[in-house]
Amino acid sequence: MNPEAARQRIETLRAELTEHDYRYYVLDAPLWTDAEYDRHWRELEALEREFPQWDRPDSPTHRVGGAPRSDLVPIRHDPPMLSLEKVLDQAGLRHFDRRLHERLGLPSDRPLDYVGEPKIDGLAVSLLYEDQVLVRAATRGDGMTGEEVTANVRTIRSIPLRLRPGIWPHRLEVRGEIYLPREAFATLNRELETGGGRGFVNARNAAAGSLRQLDPRITARRPLAFSAYGVGQGPEADVPELQDALLAWLREAGFPVSPEVRRLGGIEACWRYFEQLNARRESLPFEADGVVFKLNDRREQERAGAVARAPRWAVALKFESEEAGTRVEAIEFQVGRTGTLTPVARVTPVFVGGARVVHASLHNVSEMHRKDIRVGDRVVLRRAGDVIPEIVRSVVAESGSRPPPVPEPASCPVCGSPVERDPGGILIRCAGGLHCPAQKREAIRHFASREAMNIHGLGEKLIDQLVRTDRVRTPADLYALTAESLAGLERMGGRSAEKLVLAIQASRQTTLARFLYALGIREVGETTAELLARSLGSLEAIQEAGVDDLCAISGIGPMIGHHIRLFFDDPGNREVIGRLRAAGISWPHPAPPTSGSRFAGALFVLTGRLTTLTRDAAESAIRALGGTVSSQVSRKTSYLIVGENPGSKLDQAREYGTRIVTEEEFRDWIRPSRDPSGPGPA
Ligand code: IVH
Repeated sequence: MNPEAARQRIETLRAELTEHDYRYYVLDAPLWTDAEYDRHWRELEALEREFPQWDRPDSPTHRVGGAPRSDLVPIRHDPPMLSLEKVLDQAGLRHFDRRLHERLGLPSDRPLDYVGEPKIDGLAVSLLYEDQVLVRAATRGDGMTGEEVTANVRTIRSIPLRLRPGIWPHRLEVRGEIYLPREAFATLNRELETGGGRGFVNARNAAAGSLRQLDPRITARRPLAFSAYGVGQGPEADVPELQDALLAWLREAGFPVSPEVRRLGGIEACWRYFEQLNARRESLPFEADGVVFKLNDRREQERAGAVARAPRWAVALKFESEEAGTRVEAIEFQVGRTGTLTPVARVTPVFVGGARVVHASLHNVSEMHRKDIRVGDRVVLRRAGDVIPEIVRSVVAESGSRPPPVPEPASCPVCGSPVERDPGGILIRCAGGLHCPAQKREAIRHFASREAMNIHGLGEKLIDQLVRTDRVRTPADLYALTAESLAGLERMGGRSAEKLVLAIQASRQTTLARFLYALGIREVGETTAELLARSLGSLEAIQEAGVDDLCAISGIGPMIGHHIRLFFDDPGNREVIGRLRAAGISWPHPAPPTSGSRFAGALFVLTGRLTTLTRDAAESAIRALGGTVSSQVSRKTSYLIVGENPGSKLDQAREYGTRIVTEEEFRDWIRPSRDPSGPGPA
């Protein structure tokens, strides 16, 4: 065959194979039998081998998986990949609808248009197409940063390597769920277990484990599937304005979209949709843990905005949790990162909601006594979605033959320190602080976790050994570890020791938010850490901030403020931070606010409803330009931005003589084309 004829045949084959995949995975109407598919595929592969000049990255032959890599590269999501607020019942759903009406300023009797989608239990991914070709795929990670998994994603046959012929934006980011279909999960687990290995506890873990592989050839052997549910950026000219139209458009572009998606007029229709899907959930070809409802109109979505981690225009309604009967074999107390002692029941292994359960939480001692759960009892265990299974109740209380209730421990089962009761009166804590090996271990585990310093290869067992052998007492000690000092630990060869030391050293380059979160300050989760970093800008500023300064940040209340202060006032903590910084932990400094800009160091307060941008967008813009946002007007407030129907803040601002700014004026200030350090405020 001459090269030109080969090129033509190659293109025909690629088009046919792609069309077959589309018909098979998206339309559920395949063109060929499997054997025919294989024959065409082999013909293409042979031709590409003979004529490598016609190879292209989006050829179906590239779905077999390329060479393994040594690490997963972080990818920043813009906008962040949000999570969903959850509701549990019809009342919760109605409440969501009511709040949305209020937020949008719509009369409560005008039904809102929603779209219902199954909430598939897999993992969220972002797929980036440039000029119609898949150029990058990333996992959701913590929502802000995920991991690049392009080579692995290419092996998933229901994900198009190239968009179908049509007019598509030059750059398109598709978001959706990668999952392992129910049957594929069962088969995979059977294979793993007959091979002497251990199966995955549930379909979601199996999907995550299959995707986050350094070797894409392993991913290629797992029959992962994809379902699209959105795009990355806000409404724009060439993207449909309604969610249901958007999904149809994505299907046109070549993406599988769940056939269960429905457009629903009003919240009562949403409830009926939920009930119908709930009744059929076991027979769906995928595991779903609930239903997602989204406001259909994407312009209204924009108006509704988002809170820290979740949009206000969508909600997840979870299916009833699943229950199973088992027996309590023992009751133990686990010591958490902050010393809380949680009673945990070890139970006879049982499958609940697709997962094998051996431990179940009893929450706290009063709860355990209230439910009167004792060793040897037959109990009902409940597992809801991804939460830790809990014991609901004892089924048979054979009086007489039961052992006495497990008493509240007087001392920590791990370190023997006395036990203290929280001011709240319910939780009990080991008073040993970081002298307690369990707290030490948990603190280090938290420090090294993916969302914190993300130290690869530092697993639970290893941390346990490091703490037990006194090699590591505080997170700062991790950075002093060397391959030599690791020698002698179980399952720690020279190569793995070197790799671990490298991973620890690599974690030194981080972000301020991650570092703050890693410190494990009570009440400071990822969102609060991000908020602190963005509002105060430097570790020094955070360390020095008083409770009042902290509370001035919208989203931080007195309790959180108090814990932050307590943490930084502790000399031991200050020492550890000093050593961590001395070990070289650093982060990029946020761009210093342009001096002379009206934003630099200025304190902004917002009141009333903004009509042309969301409150979150306004707040982010202020922070990005070097200003701070506060929830209350005080003498220190520099500007009050006023939207529709302003509240009492306007009166207060007038009283203090604070400069009052209209939404329109504010928009001008943040417009990128203008120099923000232009003419100063009057
Ligand atoms: S929308 C804008 N739609 O649920 C909100 N998420 O709790 C972003 N998920 O990380 C998510 N099915 O992994 C959306 N039809 C669906 C979904 C869905 C499953 C997962 C996804 C996400 C998590 C949020």
